[in-house]
Amino acid sequence: MFYDAPSIHTVVLKPLASGAEYAYSVAGDDREFRFRMPPAAGEAYPLLFGLTADLGQTAASEASVSKLRRMMAGAPVHAGVVIIAGDLAYADGWHSRWDSFSRMLEPLAASHPVMTAGGNHEVSYGEAWIGYNARYPMPHRESNSRSNLWWSREVGPAHLTSLCSYCAYHPGSLQYEWLLRDMAQVNRTRTPWLIVTLHVPFYHSNSAHVDEAAGMRASMEGLLYAAGVDVVLAGHVHAFERTHPMHERRPNRCGPVHLNLGDGGNREGTTLPWLHPAPDWSAFREGSFGVGGLTLINATHAIFNWSRTACETQYAPDHIDLSPLCES
Ligand SMILES: [Fe+2]
Repeated sequence: MFYDAPSIHTVVLKPLASGAEYAYSVAGDDREFRFRMPPAAGEAYPLLFGLTADLGQTAASEASVSKLRRMMAGAPVHAGVVIIAGDLAYADGWHSRWDSFSRMLEPLAASHPVMTAGGNHEVSYGEAWIGYNARYPMPHRESNSRSNLWWSREVGPAHLTSLCSYCAYHPGSLQYEWLLRDMAQVNRTRTPWLIVTLHVPFYHSNSAHVDEAAGMRASMEGLLYAAGVDVVLAGHVHAFERTHPMHERRPNRCGPVHLNLGDGGNREGTTLPWLHPAPDWSAFREGSFGVGGLTLINATHAIFNWSRTACETQYAPDHIDLSPLCES
């Protein structure tokens, strides 16, 4: 489509003090916003991360944004960042939808840092990462990455690494070689938690998108396992699933837990059915919409919470029920 973008400004604010609250406004806009700078690398417990993916811009998406906003505002002590594991606006080449998505996200993103990975809706339909890279610059230069599509950042006791499911991932590729360097420099004393975000889940037990990440998993799973990654966040499959710690398709106490949060609320609806029987590594799965919250309690314990924002039902329009009774 023909589209004239509004001016897109990227402002880098620095230096900002860890944990300090800042008020700001945008020229030409009377509103004043406030945000708190997440804690710098090191101890800051308990620390909350808001998690979602495949958000889109429907009534269910708004419910997810609103829930994340309330969750982050009510963080027990420290609020970290909100992570979107790919598939943000579902603009799909209609670039004005990037603007409407940002307006929907504003109540959350104006007050809480949002960090992202790219998904298929950021690259396909002629998107080619253009809308995404212009609007969601990530700290890739600061993490010595040559692409906005893979980056890392330390937030309190967590080292966050974000990867690209739709970029070259084999040994020798820019992304793979960067990941090797990034994992090698993780300091588990300073950041005991290692959290990797990508879009296409390495493991899920849904009938949709079966084994789409097989190539990336074959290339990178061993590297992530050797580095002791705690949690892998993904989306893509429009449902919620949590695995037990696992490696090479089997439960493994030293492997990461996979959190598949493609249940953010987009217009494509939830993906069902699940495969039966459920594999032994699948700890919980549900085809409703919702969001996740990960609270790091100390260097060895964390609490993960998934909250439902809309139920899956065969009776409601689009099989999604947004009644308050569905909230959990
Ligand atoms: Fe996707």
